Amino acid sequence: MTEPGVWLVTGGAGYIGGHTVARLLSEGRRVVVLDDLSTGLAHRLPVGVPLVNASVLDTDAVAGALREHAVSGVIHFAAKKSVPESMADPLLYYREIVGGTTSLLTAMREAGVGRLVYSSTAAVYGMPKQGIVRETDPAVPISPYGHSKLVSEQVIREVGRAHELSWLSLRYFNAVGADTVGLADHGASNLFPRIFRAFAQGRPVVVTGGDFDTPDGTGVRDYIHVGDLADAHVAAVHRLERGPAAAVLNVGTGRGYSVLEVLAAFREITGEDVPYEIVAPRAGDPATVIASVDRIAEELGWSARRDLKEMVASAWAAVDLPPPSPSGPPHLEKV
Ligand code: WQD
Repeated sequence: MTEPGVWLVTGGAGYIGGHTVARLLSEGRRVVVLDDLSTGLAHRLPVGVPLVNASVLDTDAVAGALREHAVSGVIHFAAKKSVPESMADPLLYYREIVGGTTSLLTAMREAGVGRLVYSSTAAVYGMPKQGIVRETDPAVPISPYGHSKLVSEQVIREVGRAHELSWLSLRYFNAVGADTVGLADHGASNLFPRIFRAFAQGRPVVVTGGDFDTPDGTGVRDYIHVGDLADAHVAAVHRLERGPAAAVLNVGTGRGYSVLEVLAAFREITGEDVPYEIVAPRAGDPATVIASVDRIAEELGWSARRDLKEMVASAWAAVDLPPPSPSGPPHLEKV
């Protein structure tokens, strides 16, 4: 078998990028990371992995890195991912996500690199009409974040039609957990980090919405362990090395959990009571979003392996609670 090529990982110092770099290295692959460290963390990079400290918007720097490292394929993570931030500053998101993807594709064309795995999102579906979403369902994003990801998918599709580009766009559902403290996503505004912050500050968890049309009235999502998500990227790399591809794939577990079920799992794993208060739902929050995962199983032979308890346990093991302060709020002791 020919030596597997070098893969460039944009955003490889990020949360999902960092987990994916670790898995590519563990199977003996050579990896180069391109990251401007605007949100990525240098300490996430394993020793020996070359870092190109640049933005994907710098087309010449990207083309130079592709040539210098004789890259055979790219995994493109680099992007901001806050829905609220995209609502407040849409231009930032269109520039970074659509502009960044267009710049990367230009550099890949200049350097003759024809394989791309793209980091897309379930947010492209917006408010799906039914809980289980298929890749063929209407994509009607309700935020500049989701819309810019959808536009980037379409740019990739058109470039793939016109030029020698094989691609797989992966629509992530709710990535949670972490393999280590260093790889965790502490700052995110998503449910899991917010539960731990409420724990650490000794205040109730805020549950947004208690009257959804779901079994217990709280929102249902398809949570997926970030390790499974990283494995899906490795499976995508293997698929692109086997031959031409052009597909959009949901990446989830195919199973949904409500907020109250997540809190019950936190209680079981931490041994702590989990006080919470239910408040009004967030504007535009769908009741249920669960991935149909038939296509990724067929295309990549991949399916998620970890269950909710494993996700919560890994998030809990990786949480970086503030040191106990003598007079501060009660500090959660790990059981
Ligand atoms: C999950 C559930 C909330 C906060 C994400 C992002 C993005 C995308 C996946 C990649 C919902 C409830 C939340 C809180 C709560 N992934 N909640 N209290 O809304 O599914 O969106 O989708 O791009 O990360 O678009 O994730 O974690 O914000 O919410 O009760 O303090 O938790 O109502 O049901 P969401 P989330």
